[in-house]
Amino acid sequence: MIVTVTLNPALDLTYTVDALVPHGTHRVSAVAERPGGKGLNVAAVLAQLGEPVVATGLLGGSTGARISDLLAGHGIAAAFVPIAGETRRTVAVADGDDATGFWEPGPLVSSHEWTAFLERFRALVGSGDVVALSGSLPPGVPADGYATLIGLAAVAGARTVLDTSGEALRHGLAAGPDLAKPNAAELAELFPTADASTAAGASAAAVLAFGARAVVVSRGPLGLVASDADGVWEAAPPERLAGNPTGAGDACVAALARGLRDRTPWPELLADAVALSAAAVAAPVAGSVDLDTYHRLLRALPPRT
Ligand SMILES: Nc1ncnc2c1ncn2[C@@H]1O[C@H](COP(=O)(O)OP(=O)(O)OP(=O)(O)O)[C@@H](O)[C@H]1O
Ligand SMILES: [Mg+2]
Repeated sequence: MIVTVTLNPALDLTYTVDALVPHGTHRVSAVAERPGGKGLNVAAVLAQLGEPVVATGLLGGSTGARISDLLAGHGIAAAFVPIAGETRRTVAVADGDDATGFWEPGPLVSSHEWTAFLERFRALVGSGDVVALSGSLPPGVPADGYATLIGLAAVAGARTVLDTSGEALRHGLAAGPDLAKPNAAELAELFPTADASTAAGASAAAVLAFGARAVVVSRGPLGLVASDADGVWEAAPPERLAGNPTGAGDACVAALARGLRDRTPWPELLADAVALSAAAVAAPVAGSVDLDTYHRLLRALPPRT
């Protein structure tokens, strides 16, 4: 089983307007809403592929209830812990040319609620599971929150994929996740001397992130570089896709979590992750992939050793 953890989920709202005018009043021609937050994107991509997945995390208030309903509608199994605070919304105003975003702050999580989550996590995660830990930590969750979850998963015999940034990443790496998936900017933020603009630089920088057993650095259209104790592997998309790159990293994590579960060798795993994350660029919204693009690119991407 793959378990995705989303501690700071959001209800993503998109308003479509003709043209965005600051200080103006706008008639909204379409409103779209979807469950958001990186871990929920990972769960949605795995569900689209027909992989068994359970989404856990923290949800509160009427926005949290709406996310639960939407997940049920998408057939995604959910095991969230309720909190008193209201789950945040993100609002994007799209006007055909571009989008303008408004991100609400996450709710404050009490120490009691965090303890309740740890209990739920302990009960949920079992031997052989793969746990994907994605995104930012909401206020009130300790900076070493992911480190605690990585430790609990290890005790349960489960393996972990960590995709976060800043202090949450620094603390999480120290707990020894099986895999970390920073993008080039997240790696450079943590290790300022790192130069992930080349594959060699990305792998050398990844070695600096010594806490993880393996590191996959994602480099946008340049693809992926994986490093572990045995070597370095690289895969690049055969073509640069136009579309929506938000959530490409989450599709990449979905592929990596599945590969970790199946113990897929690196060359095959990276080819799959590159094809799936490019297929996310080709799909209009985060948390979904264009299956035709996925299968076309998989055929074009022979695994490289
Ligand atoms: N334009 C593109 N064309 C083809 N593949 C792409 C493109 N952009 C990204 N990818 C693929 O997606 C992977 C992940 O993208 P990226 O490095 O941007 O992740 P990210 O910054 O973590 O994204 P996010 O956090 O928004 O999900 C890349 O390593 C690459 O394989
Ligand atoms: Mg990312």
